[in-house]
Amino acid sequence: MRFLALDKLINVQEGYRQRFKIDSLDLVLVREGGEVSAFAALCPHQEQSLEHGQIESGIIYCPRHGFAFSLISGEHLSGQCARLPIYTVHFEGNEVGILLED
Ligand code: FES
Repeated sequence: MRFLALDKLINVQEGYRQRFKIDSLDLVLVREGGEVSAFAALCPHQEQSLEHGQIESGIIYCPRHGFAFSLISGEHLSGQCARLPIYTVHFEGNEVGILLED
């Protein structure tokens, strides 16, 4: 696994939300309810941006049709839609980022 640093830990305070486009990656890093999560920026339903989707109790709601996805598993809670890709958040030194397959 390879660590991809995204931001300084000190910047990732409650309510933090930032979209990153790096090579073929397009993801959102958030801190909500004390949890830091990273997930694909585009909804697996019809590719609406999830950058500004509402997050409550570890669930993100797509702004277009309201589909709800777990930020832990990526599962669509009603089960009709494909899974939202979730990234493994990792902390290293004073940085926060994600782990990528080699
Ligand atoms: S585009 Fe996200 S729920 Fe339809």
